[in-house]
Amino acid sequence: MTEIRIAVVGAGQIGGNLARLWFRAGHDVLIAFSRDAMQLPARAAALGDHVSAATPEHAVSVADVVLLAVPWDVIDEALRQVGPLAGTIVIDATNQFGHSAKPGNGQTVAQYNSARMPGARYVRAFNTLTAGFQAEASSRPKDERTVMFLCGDHAEAKRVVAGLIDDAGFVAFDLGSASDAAIMEAPRRPGAVYGEEFRLERARTFVTSNRASR
Ligand SMILES: NC(=O)c1ccc[n+]([C@@H]2O[C@H](COP(=O)([O-])OP(=O)(O)OC[C@H]3O[C@@H](n4cnc5c(N)ncnc54)[C@H](OP(=O)(O)O)[C@@H]3O)[C@@H](O)[C@H]2O)c1
Repeated sequence: MTEIRIAVVGAGQIGGNLARLWFRAGHDVLIAFSRDAMQLPARAAALGDHVSAATPEHAVSVADVVLLAVPWDVIDEALRQVGPLAGTIVIDATNQFGHSAKPGNGQTVAQYNSARMPGARYVRAFNTLTAGFQAEASSRPKDERTVMFLCGDHAEAKRVVAGLIDDAGFVAFDLGSASDAAIMEAPRRPGAVYGEEFRLERARTFVTSNRASR
């Protein structure tokens, strides 16, 4: 495994859990972005020995990969604080629960959010399962692993993120480009993988039949 420096922007339920899992897998993790930055060092120490706190701008400037895991309504503020993301691999775990603007008809969250971070090598992942479930399922034996879906338009970025999905204890399943992301986006509904647990074989069958019926 190659050590990757990861900036977790929003170390709450989703980001805090992934910070812990990635640190345990041997990566270097920085956490950033809080309503009270003073308590971030203590949170970092609680997550792991080599997890540190940083300002959003610094964390992103030194990171190979950024995880965005903040509430929908504060995405703009988080992006403002992290600064330019051109060339950076960004994993977007957010879901569109909130009051601020949302994607238009026929537009996926992946398309909408990637346009908010010009030039970023955007990958959507870790958004389909609850944080509690992710924490519980991450320690399963290899042959019982749960699928973690991803999508995006950058093959190399998806390769890196698929590795981080594996390191976190899941099986990566690539659904295609940002325009293919609807199936993995809220709300939970028939025909979507959002909110559902899949093992690899069932995911293959489900996605193939979903595509055939479109
Ligand atoms: N929870 C889930 O089961 C789940 C599952 C899939 C996807 N998601 C998505 O992942 C994203 C994060 O969800 P979460 O449940 O991890 O959220 P959360 O536990 O509330 O964590 C939010 C993080 O953002 C930070 N933050 C900074 N400024 C904030 C502000 N003004 N208001 C609120 N938080 C602020 C929080 O830091 P401080 O607390 O230190 O301020 C915290 O680290 C959301 O878009 C959500 O839809 C959540």
